[in-house]
Amino acid sequence: MNRLKNKVVLITGAGRGIGRACALAAAKEGADIVISDVEKNIEDVPYDLSSSLQLEKTETDCRNFGASVLKIFADVTKIEEISAMIQEVMDRFGRIDVLINNAGIGAPAGKATHEHTEKEWKVLINVNLSGPWRMIKMVAPIMINQNCGSIINIASTAGLLGYKHFVGYVASKHGVIGLTKSAALDYALNNVRVNAICPGPVFDDEDVDGSMTKVVADSLGIQLGEQEEIDLQSVAMGTVVSPNDVADAAVWLGSDESLRVTGSSITVDAGYSIK
Ligand SMILES: NC(=O)c1ccc[n+]([C@@H]2O[C@H](COP(=O)([O-])OP(=O)(O)OC[C@H]3O[C@@H](n4cnc5c(N)ncnc54)[C@H](O)[C@@H]3O)[C@@H](O)[C@H]2O)c1
Repeated sequence: MNRLKNKVVLITGAGRGIGRACALAAAKEGADIVISDVEKNIEDVPYDLSSSLQLEKTETDCRNFGASVLKIFADVTKIEEISAMIQEVMDRFGRIDVLINNAGIGAPAGKATHEHTEKEWKVLINVNLSGPWRMIKMVAPIMINQNCGSIINIASTAGLLGYKHFVGYVASKHGVIGLTKSAALDYALNNVRVNAICPGPVFDDEDVDGSMTKVVADSLGIQLGEQEEIDLQSVAMGTVVSPNDVADAAVWLGSDESLRVTGSSITVDAGYSIK
């Protein structure tokens, strides 16, 4: 309890899934919360992104834990929307202690490297890699000025390993690991820490409207049950990760319990990447 008290935590992609789980976990730990999401679909992404109702659900759930919540619709591919969001956060809270770069897309995917169009490649890099970079570009000066902050990039085991027929996703998440390490060096003397979390397969938890396993299954043209079985077979612990497992790691990285941790990529993958 209260491990994030007096901290302002900003979470992108908080409409559902891991982002909502992170928002709820931060709210339970006493933080002031900024939740943001994109509100509309993005061209070339072959599935629905979060609706405004989903972000409102996150807002209500956080408020039920007694948190102060600011909800902002912003697209991480648009620097001007990020800039307006950061201004709004500073007007309301005057600081940003923790940035959770969670917004991401899992597709277009499901084909060999050369079969992708340039638009498909670009949208994955633009959201998954350039999105966190844009957020850091706008938030780092504030954290430097505060002489403290924790930036948490939600990467993936796809940032550490190859996945057949997911080249754009894998390349973008490998990029997030590089972004994490270099930014960690840039801000180490400013007491601003930058770390990545690499979740393995996360199950589609209904409590947070999770749907990424379905996106993966649809991309590969298989049934959801088949993908779930593949995921279960691939994890050493015989159980896949929940969004709350990822949120627990984010709370620790955001809290003062991890003050000497920077530049790390922490796997939360039930042993998926051990071998
Ligand atoms: N679910 C998994 O198995 C898994 C595993 C490893 C890593 N991840 C990563 O975790 C993060 C969250 O994924 P999830 O499983 O909760 O998926 P999700 O689709 O449920 O959540 C992603 C959120 O990001 C938002 N978003 C997408 N593009 C955006 C943009 N341009 N601007 C702002 N918001 C945008 C979506 O609307 C959505 O609310 C992603 O970065 C994903 O790559 C997920």
